[in-house]
Formats: sequence, C-alpha cells, structure tokens
Amino acid sequence: MKTIRTAILGTGFMGRVHLEAVQRVESVEAAAIFGRNDDATARLAAAFSVPKASSDYRELFRDPAIDAVDICTPNAQHFSMAKEALQAGKHVLCEKPLTTTVAEAEELVTLAARSKLRNCVCHNLRYYPQVQQMRALREAGELGEILVVQGTYSQDWLLYDTDWNWRVDAKAAGASRAMADIGSHFFDMAEHVTGLRVSSLCADLQTFHKTRKQPKGSVETFANKMMRPEDYVETPVDTEDFGAVVFRMGDRTRGAMTASQVSAVLTSILANCALVAIKATLLYCSTAFSGSPSDSMAIYNLGCKRNPLRNPRRGDAGAFARSNTQAAYYPLKRILSTVAYGK
Ligand SMILES: NC(=O)c1ccc[n+]([C@@H]2O[C@H](COP(=O)([O-])OP(=O)(O)OC[C@H]3O[C@@H](n4cnc5c(N)ncnc54)[C@H](O)[C@@H]3O)[C@@H](O)[C@H]2O)c1
Repeated sequence: MKTIRTAILGTGFMGRVHLEAVQRVESVEAAAIFGRNDDATARLAAAFSVPKASSDYRELFRDPAIDAVDICTPNAQHFSMAKEALQAGKHVLCEKPLTTTVAEAEELVTLAARSKLRNCVCHNLRYYPQVQQMRALREAGELGEILVVQGTYSQDWLLYDTDWNWRVDAKAAGASRAMADIGSHFFDMAEHVTGLRVSSLCADLQTFHKTRKQPKGSVETFANKMMRPEDYVETPVDTEDFGAVVFRMGDRTRGAMTASQVSAVLTSILANCALVAIKATLLYCSTAFSGSPSDSMAIYNLGCKRNPLRNPRRGDAGAFARSNTQAAYYPLKRILSTVAYGK
C-alpha cells in the first residue's frame, strides 16, 4: 500500500489534532508542517518527528514528494489554499467550513472533479459511532419516515466581551461565526443521518456583543487568557454569537436548531439534562452521557420497526445522538483512512 505523504497547514488547535491523528493512520505520513512562526513550527515538527517545517506553504505545494495537504488554518484562508493545492496536483482535506462563500465551494468542487483529486471537508462529527448507528438504522429502513430533525450546539467560550478569537473577525473567519463554526457540524450530521437535504431555511442571527476587547497579541483557540486594559482594543463585531434556524428537508420533513457560542456551561448542562429527560421516553439509540454536553441531535419518525419504547398512539420514537467534540481522534482517523484518500 502506498504511503500518502501529507503536509499539515496550521499549527493551532486543529493542526495539532490532525497531526496526532495522521500519525495514528498506518498508511499516511505527516511529511511536513506549515506555520506562520518559524520557531514554533520547527518545535512542533521536532516534537512529532515530522521531517520538514516551513513558513511558506507554496514551497510545500511545489514539493513533488507531497501527495496531499491537510488545511487547518482560519476559514478565510481555506479557499485559496485548497485551490492552489488542487492546482498543484495535491489531494485536499480541509477543515470546515470548506470556504466562506458558496461560489468558492462550488469552484473547488469543479476543480477537484476536473483534476480527479480528492477535495474533502472535515465534518468529523458524522463519524461518531452513535451518529453512524443512526445512519445505519435509517439506511436499513429501521427508522421509517423521518418527520422532524431537532438539535442544538451550545458553547460558552465566547460568552464575555473579553473573549476573543480570530473567529470573531469576519476577515479571518467569514461573515458567519456560530453557524459556520458549529452549526455547520449539525447540518452535516442532519443530512448525513437522514439522507435528506436542507431545501430551505429561515434564520434569526444575533450578535450580543457589538464590540469585543481584541487583544493586541494573537490568541489561539481555547488558550487561557488574562488581559489588562492596555492589552486590548475595543473592536466592532458583526459575526453572530447565536443563531436559531427553522428549516425544511424536502416537502415533508421539518427541523429546528440553535447554535450558540455564548451559552454558559451550567445552562447548557441543565438544558441538555432537561432535553435528555424529555426525550428519555423517545430514546431508541443508546446514548453515552460522558464527555461534552454541548451538542445533540434528535430525529423523530414514523413507522420505526424495532423501537422498544414505541407508543403507537403518540407516534414512534426517534433516535438521539450526542457527540463529544474533544474526542476528535476516532472520527479524524476514520476520515483520513476512509474518505480523504479514497480507500
Ligand atoms: N472539525 C472540527 O471539529 C474543528 C474544531 C476546531 C476547529 N476547526 C477548524 O479548524 C480550523 C483552525 O481552527 P483552530 O481551532 O485550530 O484555530 P487556532 O486558532 O487554534 O489555530 C489557527 C492556526 O492558524 C494560524 N493562523 C494563520 N493565519 C491566522 C490569522 N489570520 N489569525 C489567526 N491565526 C492564524 C495560527 O498561527 C494557528 O497556527 C478552522 O477552520 C476551524 O473551523 C474544526
């Protein structure tokens, strides 16, 4: 089996997660790392025994020994990096969101199809075992007709106006924040599980903090931060903290979801506990409540074949899944070994 030599672009939170995941996949080799900072990139490469570190990703695209690139940089860089990589003949695995506009995403899809290269987006939540179980049940016809899809993805890490990250800045992240950052995971799971496509939607987006205190230095995702007034500038924000969406999946199926980056953990836990309690009687798939309480998805259906909790008078039960966003290795490994490189 040919070893796929991949270059990882980005040395932040996801860059490191991908690096570890790649090193757990037998037939993929982390051959190079790209980062903005020479010293930090060299240190990371040394720590993971990666032979090459570079602060010029185009140099890696020109390298004939590199087969694929794995893009883990801020969203607004995805399109140009993916496009240049495809043009250089490299397969692409790109973090979500693939691009910040539909037109850019369509251009990449066309380019990849023309060049017969892989152009994959890392919607890793679909690979959680419970999500796969829901999909398998639906494919086997066990769930009957899906009527309603509901979900929530709540985080609290951008609750205060002192919380800052490149995601807040539309120039680095694109016009959408909560929806593009975490809502995109929900919609990918919803479509993956049901086999349906979102056909139309109506959204209410809210930016609670119209300004935030932007640190003068850079802040990596989930890094601890303690700032003094002289360390930040008051910066206008127009990306959303919260969004509520009602949507249609074809003619009959209906759905609703919320995504939030300002829902405090306690609220989130209580809300999810309440959700779990309410749904307990509707539960079909087994659920594991360890790990992050932050994201969940439920589908409600008609004509479920094997549901032990079936109540014929009230309609059939649904399937429920929750994923732990910290446990990224398993799904990443599945993506890298099954999807990205076409095995
Ligand atoms: N699939 C998932 O579950 C998941 C989870 C988290 C993040 N992501 C995606 O991964 C990508 C990277 O996110 P992250 O959480 O690793 O971010 P991060 O802030 O931890 O790391 C970003 C990296 O890009 C570099 N960088 C280059 N230009 C930058 C700029 N203008 N501003 C800030 N940093 C810049 C930073 O130095 C850093 O190495 C994003 O597209 C994000 O949506 C996906």
